[in-house]
Parts: sequence; structure tokens; C-alpha cells
Amino acid sequence: MKIRVAPSILSADFSNLGAEVIKVEKSGADLIHCDVMDGSFVEPITFGAQMVKSIRPHTMLPLDVHLMIEHPKTQIKFFADAGADIITVHYGACKKISDSYLKETLELIRSYGVRCGAAVNPDEDVENLFPIFPLCDLILLMTVFPGYGGQKYIKSVTPKIAKARKYADSIGLKELNIEVDGGITEKNFKTAKSAGANYLVAGSAIFNSKDMIMTMENFRNK
Ligand code: DX5
Ligand code: ZN
Repeated sequence: MKIRVAPSILSADFSNLGAEVIKVEKSGADLIHCDVMDGSFVEPITFGAQMVKSIRPHTMLPLDVHLMIEHPKTQIKFFADAGADIITVHYGACKKISDSYLKETLELIRSYGVRCGAAVNPDEDVENLFPIFPLCDLILLMTVFPGYGGQKYIKSVTPKIAKARKYADSIGLKELNIEVDGGITEKNFKTAKSAGANYLVAGSAIFNSKDMIMTMENFRNK
């Protein structure tokens, strides 16, 4: 499967996001990962759909919007209108509302012609997502607890990546994308790749790199 590198703008200079997005695109990014945090599902607040809309004209790359928010269904319209190409919501945020909320949210995302993803935190079983695998374009396995960039990769997630890939293959979903997010560095990306991840999100490892072209090239090809 083709490996795609998604720099997380969480580690970019928020006062200069247009230029930051142009820089990572020129340096070889495949997607732009946008971390939306609401101060409730996770402690920090980052930005909302208005920011995604402002970034949109600065890049041709797909905008990979990661919603770390409560009640995600209420926000889908705004992010779809803002130009998101992929919208990922959290299992945990949906589950606390109702058993059917995740499925309904994924269907809503699709109804806007946007690709959809579902995420689990490091302490949530990926089996929780098995029933909705066929509805998804992407499964996001958090390799840190969401909220902050620059944390350490949680090794116990690696077998979950393999489990997700194995299950997807077993039900014929050969094209399902498996994304990892959190603590991905030049030291550990191969672990996630060989377990079956093909979308690699990285914030600090890319934005703090002395040579982001080389870092992304390594992520993709090594
Ligand atoms: C964490 C975010 C990640 C984060 C990754 O809550 O979802 O996308 O920005 O940053 P690094 O790569 O620095 O762990
Ligand atoms: Zn993220």
C-alpha cells in the first residue's frame, strides 16, 4: 500500500499557517493533518472550521481533519463546507452519546462527499471499530493520548495496528487506510509501517526537523 505522510499543523506556527502549509507541501507532504480540539474531549482548544477554511486556498493537498471534540455530528457540516477531504471522529466521543452515534456521524460525513474515519485512543480496543470498518475510508489508531504534540509513542498500540490490518484484509477491505498519530519519529515509524499503517501523522518530527524534505522522504520510502 502506498505510504502517505501527513504533517500535523499542531506543531506549526499558528500565526503563519498559510506559509507553513505551503512549506510542508513543497517539502513533500501527502496530506495536511488538522488537529481540532475543543477543550472538553481533550484539554486544549486549537481551532475550528474557520481555520480549515482559511488554510484551504493555500494547498492542493487533501485536508485530513482530526476532530477531537464532543458531539462531532454538530460540526460536520461546517468542516465539510470549509473544504475538509477527510473527517475523522473519535469512538469515545460518539459512544458516550449513543451506540448508533458513530455510524450516524460517519454516514453524515459521507453524505457531504467527504471521506470518513474513526479513531480509538490507546486504551480503547480496535475491535470496537470492527463493525464500522466497511463504512470507513480510514481507521485512526492513536499512538498517544490525544491533546498534545511531542509525546512519546505508546508501544502497546503496535499490535492493534496489526490487528486492524489483519481484520480489514480478512473482510476484503484491502484499500482501507490505517493511520497512526502521535509520537511518530524517524526512530519508530518503521514499527508502525511494518505492523500495517499506511498513513503516518507526525507533528514535531516534521516541523522540528532540520531537513523536513528528508524526514518525509524517509517516512515514505524507508
Ligand atoms: C495529538 C494529535 C496529533 C499530534 C501529533 O493529540 O492528534 O496529531 O499533533 O504530534 P506529534 O507527532 O508531535 O506527536
Ligand atoms: Zn491528530
